[in-house]
Amino acid sequence: MRIFNRREFLGGIGIGGLLASTGASHLFFNARAQGQGIGYDLLDPRNPANFTNPLRLPSDRGLLGMLSPSQNLTLTTREVTRELAPGVSAKLWVYESSEAGRTYENPILRMTKGARLDATLKNELSEKTIIHWHGLNVDWKNDGHPSYEIQPGETYPYGYSVQNRSGTYWYHSHPHGHAGEQQYAGLASLFLVDDEEETELSRMLDLNLGQTDIPLILQDKQFNNGSFAYTPDDDALLSGFIGDVVLGNLTINPFMDVSTRIYRFRILNASNARTYRLAFTSGAGQAPFSVIGSDGGLLEQPYQVTEVFLAPAERIDLLLDLSRYQVGDVLFLESLPFNPMHQEHEHGVPMTKFPVPDGGQFYILKLNITRSGAFDRGIPARLSEVSAMDTTGAAKRDFIFAAPSDIGHGGALYWSISGWTFEMDRAPVSVKKDSVEIWELINTELSMPHPMHIHGFQFRVLNRKGSPEQISRLAVDSSGLLPAETGWKDTVHVWPNETVRLAVNFTHGFAGEQVYMFHCHILEHQDLGMMINYRVG
Ligand code: C2O
Ligand code: CU
Ligand code: CU
Repeated sequence: MRIFNRREFLGGIGIGGLLASTGASHLFFNARAQGQGIGYDLLDPRNPANFTNPLRLPSDRGLLGMLSPSQNLTLTTREVTRELAPGVSAKLWVYESSEAGRTYENPILRMTKGARLDATLKNELSEKTIIHWHGLNVDWKNDGHPSYEIQPGETYPYGYSVQNRSGTYWYHSHPHGHAGEQQYAGLASLFLVDDEEETELSRMLDLNLGQTDIPLILQDKQFNNGSFAYTPDDDALLSGFIGDVVLGNLTINPFMDVSTRIYRFRILNASNARTYRLAFTSGAGQAPFSVIGSDGGLLEQPYQVTEVFLAPAERIDLLLDLSRYQVGDVLFLESLPFNPMHQEHEHGVPMTKFPVPDGGQFYILKLNITRSGAFDRGIPARLSEVSAMDTTGAAKRDFIFAAPSDIGHGGALYWSISGWTFEMDRAPVSVKKDSVEIWELINTELSMPHPMHIHGFQFRVLNRKGSPEQISRLAVDSSGLLPAETGWKDTVHVWPNETVRLAVNFTHGFAGEQVYMFHCHILEHQDLGMMINYRVG
């Protein structure tokens, strides 16, 4: 086994700045400073009794307020101190914005398909940044390519029309080498697109965004003896930085009062590295729910399930029918235990011991049924149309995720994509504009699951092969697809030994050659170079 020499490694790939910045506590608990003396036992998400904090629901202002911009939107990155649970505050980095006399932080943006977004990013951090609009079809100048990063004090203009169908998209910071640090500190929120189909579904099910239609952003932080600081050690850089405190909408251990009706949850995994195995449980039982949408909007039909995996950057849109419950009943949104398949540890790097390891069980959100009412709406049998992709004559390309390598980077272990690591000015892949390609993502044995994300285009999953049993038993058809993969995706989780085939249609209407990225959305992997440019010319 090689010693993971982080200094040489980071220096070797030109992101030595990460070292300097991770030394500072950009995000930390003030609980002790306030004399509360809150220890980990009160924040432990494995204890259901800790779920006593009202879930932050998006309102019309403030942190995670909903905003439909009617003018040029200014998003200013800055540090604020906010309460994440009563008596527990932390420093966060947020996108601050104001409109019509109201101030927003990390606004949940709501746009109608076809509308134009004009926005100015203003960098008031002490380091470079840039915004990426995750899942949206935009040209590369609007995509947050790190070559457009801006320095402290600078601004960046965005302007594009929203081409995507309705769906749960998101936006977050994307500077090279600092994505993990900045998203961990808070720079991420949702971008919801509405269209007629969406409006019709909400009307049919009598759903109200922020009340019965709940956007839910999941993140985990490391308690670290009362400090929330982003301090990945060598293990965390290799295996991903996971936390033992779990937040829903920037609320630690949240609860929500609900009534006996259908609720919609649009869940984003905005964690740096943690995968969730989501289920709704009451006592020992699992409540069925219906998956209705994924990264790129509604599926053709609902799929009734009792669990879904949600990897970093993925979104799941689901309906939970509580009409058969009674006042006084309690459910939990929970992450069930699973095998995290960290087979990279065959390389001799020990798993860091956390109270809540990757794949460990914990609770996420408590649902208290406090009201009952007549509810007579049912889930429609058909939701949308998801056209098949024509792959006749499609070019085929393979990408291999091998065991981490220690060659050529000062003896450090790092992940790559077919042996490539990120170089700002080099695009190892060139795709013909307006063509369809089949991308085969091959994960190998001494590896770990990698949530792979393609910028610029939503894709379709054609099939999964070699899936571990915990995944294959959830497949909805003989090609191994999971319910969410019957729709449009921009991020796909590839487990060790799996081969996942995607179809991507690279048709775009932008002038000139575009340069996008393909990367792992475990942010430590992305920051250390498990990312490549691809050109669409
Ligand atoms: Cu959400 Cu390039 O990432
Ligand atoms: Cu993206
Ligand atoms: Cu990865």
